[in-house]
Order: sequence, then C-alpha cells, then structure tokens
Amino acid sequence: MLSATDNAYLNSSEPDTPMGNYLRCHWHPVALSEEVAKPDCAPIRLKVMGEDLLLFRDSKGKTGLIEPFCAHRGADLFFGRNEECGIRCIYHGWKYDIHGNCIDMPNVPKDAAYHGKIKIKAYPTQEFADMVWAYMGPPDIQPFEVPQLEAGLVPPSHRYVTKRLVECNWTHSMEGALDTAHFSFLHMPAPAFRKDDSSNIAADESRIRWLRNDPAPRFKIIDHEVGFLIGGARNADPGDHYWRLTQYMLPTHSITPSAMPNETYYGYSWVPIDDHSCWMYVYAWHPDQAISDEERKKYIKGGYGQFAELGPGYVPLRNRSNSYLMSREEQKTISFTGIRGIAEQDQMAQESQGYVIDRTKENLSPTDVGIIRFRKLLLQEAKAFAAGKKPDSPNKAKDYCVRGGGAHTKSSLALEQVMEERFGSITGKVDYANN
Ligand code: FES
Ligand SMILES: [Fe+2]
Repeated sequence: MLSATDNAYLNSSEPDTPMGNYLRCHWHPVALSEEVAKPDCAPIRLKVMGEDLLLFRDSKGKTGLIEPFCAHRGADLFFGRNEECGIRCIYHGWKYDIHGNCIDMPNVPKDAAYHGKIKIKAYPTQEFADMVWAYMGPPDIQPFEVPQLEAGLVPPSHRYVTKRLVECNWTHSMEGALDTAHFSFLHMPAPAFRKDDSSNIAADESRIRWLRNDPAPRFKIIDHEVGFLIGGARNADPGDHYWRLTQYMLPTHSITPSAMPNETYYGYSWVPIDDHSCWMYVYAWHPDQAISDEERKKYIKGGYGQFAELGPGYVPLRNRSNSYLMSREEQKTISFTGIRGIAEQDQMAQESQGYVIDRTKENLSPTDVGIIRFRKLLLQEAKAFAAGKKPDSPNKAKDYCVRGGGAHTKSSLALEQVMEERFGSITGKVDYANN
C-alpha cells in the first residue's frame, strides 16, 4: 500500500513532474530501429512520457527525434519531406536537421538576422540492441552511454527484439515482471488439469509441476549498482529448490527469471507513452549462439513465452478492447485464464488493474516483496533528484549487463550461493568483455 501522494508520484511521467524529471535523466528506447529502417524513409509519430515527437532517419542513416511542429507557423512535420539530410516542412519549405536546427528558410530574405538561429526541440538519440534510444533530460547531465544490456552486446544474430503496446501505467507492467509468485496461478493449466502431470502448457514438465505445487515462494533481495536481484525459492523435488531470479534495473528495465542454464535469456524495457499506456520492449538473446530460425519464427508469430501475438502497429491481437479473446470454455478445460499466451495473460492481469492503479487500496502479501522494493527504490531515487542529488545509475551503463533466470539447486543453498553457481556472480553481473 502507498499513500495517495506517493502513488501519484510513482505513476507520473509527464514533463515537469518529479518522476517525469527523474525518468528523463536516463536513456530510453523510443522505437525499434526497424520502424525507421532506411535513410530518408517515412518519419514516425511518437509520444514519449507525454511529449509528442517525430522520429526520422536522415540521408546519412542518422536518427533524429524532434518536436513535430514547424517553427514558422506550426505545420506538422510528420507530413514533411525527408530528404537531403533533413525534414522539409510541406507548407513553406523550412527544413530541419536531426538536431532540430532550421537549416533552410526559403521564404525568408537571405540577409534576415534569424537565419541560422531558429531551432526546434530535439533530443539526442543512439541506436543499441536494434532500438533507437533517446535522452530527454537536462543536457548538462546527459549520460554518455545507453544502458549496456547484454542483448545489445551480443551479435545481431544472437538476439530478437520487438515491442508491444501495454494499455496501462508502465509501473503495473513492471510490478507484474517483479512478481514471480503469480506464475503458480495466472499461467497454469485449468484447475481440472492441475493434478495431472501431463500438463498441456508447453514448457518443461518439472518446472510446471514445481510452480504449480508451491504458490508461495520465499523471496530474498540482493541490491546491486543499478537496482536489485530478487530470488524466489519454491520447493521443487524433495531436498531441492526451484529458484526464479529476476533483475530490476533503474528505472525501467527487467530481466526475466525464466532461462535455465544454456537457455535463451529474456528482458524488458518499458517507456511510458503517457500515464495511461506504455511501450514494452521485449528482447531475447543468447550469449553463445544464434537464435535458431525455428525459435525466431515463434517469437515473430507471438503467443509464445514472452512474445504476444501482434497485429498492426505492435498492438497485441488479444487486448483490452476484446477482453483478450478470453474463452470461458477454455478457462474450464485448458488454462487457468482461458486466454491464450503467457504474455497476453500477463497483460490482461496488469491492464485489469485499471489504467492507473490506486495503491492506497491494496493489501500486500509476503510474495510482494520485490514490488515493495521497486517502489521504495524508485521513489527514493526520484525524490533525491528532486532535492538536487544527481542520480548515479545513468552513468553506470556497464552495470546493466546482468542476467536473470532459473536455477534448480539443493535446498541448503542460500541465494548468494545460488547466484554464484548459476551466473558466477552474486548479482548476476556479466563482465561481457571477458565472457
Ligand atoms: S509552417 Fe512550416 S514552413 Fe511555414
Ligand atoms: Fe507472468
């Protein structure tokens, strides 16, 4: 439970709000590189943390993120011509480069004093891990590097990156990722099948059994440079534990607890569109091998693991507007929810909390420990920034190279030992250069 004040603080991301200011001190993914695939291709409209923006790729292949309205008389630059290293307004031909500089004003006398002085709002961008990232904070504290997620350090053949629309405040979705207790219900077969070991969910049989049989995992947290690792231990077979080890990295990133040794890793980065919706960037990567064609096809098709089945515009086909195509018949006979796809089940639960949750009405349980820590850390960081303390995490880009995943261990092992055994590091940090 949070106070109404803290809840409003946590949920906000718009300009000139304390959390909005804090979020802007970090680089955020704002589009997939494939959305502006080629030089001089069509620009795309974006809304990021409540700001309307335009993203384009210029003739040299560089990306530019600018405000969408022409400085002359406000025509929408979305309709502009993207050519010869800039966007030219269709109304009277003013032209802007990727930095927002107005580099041509054909209807202004050549000797006018304001030639070379007109500039529209523009934010720096970088491409990393097949995503275009933007920095929308104060220029004097701009971090040098985007978070060095491992997904962006492996060769392109070793990763798959996509995104999807989530129709609720981004914090609901993050809390869903940090709450690994829900798997024992939300993603399970229908109750009629719960005692049946021939589970009809396509995943490792033992893992489903362990998840099903222990719905109240015990959690422990290990803090690290840019967030924390949360380990949830379930009783597995006698004398064993099944651990799900989830990463949270400030302010908007998480690595999932699903990958067992040698399996593909998955992670998420969120960016608010506004306070009622967000984009969730979803990436799969394998440190040692290319993603196979078969695996990639499953990701692209969606409805598989962390990947929802998407329609046009990266909108899930099963979404809020159609009640996720829930089947009451399938809820009795196939799955606990009657909704197809783990990602879709997650999204249903998170969006069902409303567009912006009122956390004053909650009654938390011991399995919510990761959620409590997330709120506490994010509020603490944002409040410190509001009080004048520069955040550290944006300048610790290399510390974002962490792994999360699953482990099957002896029940005598403490979380620290489990992490050492599973990742060779108590915090899950990977020294990529030496990997
Ligand atoms: S409004 Fe854009 S050039 Fe006139
Ligand atoms: Fe889930």
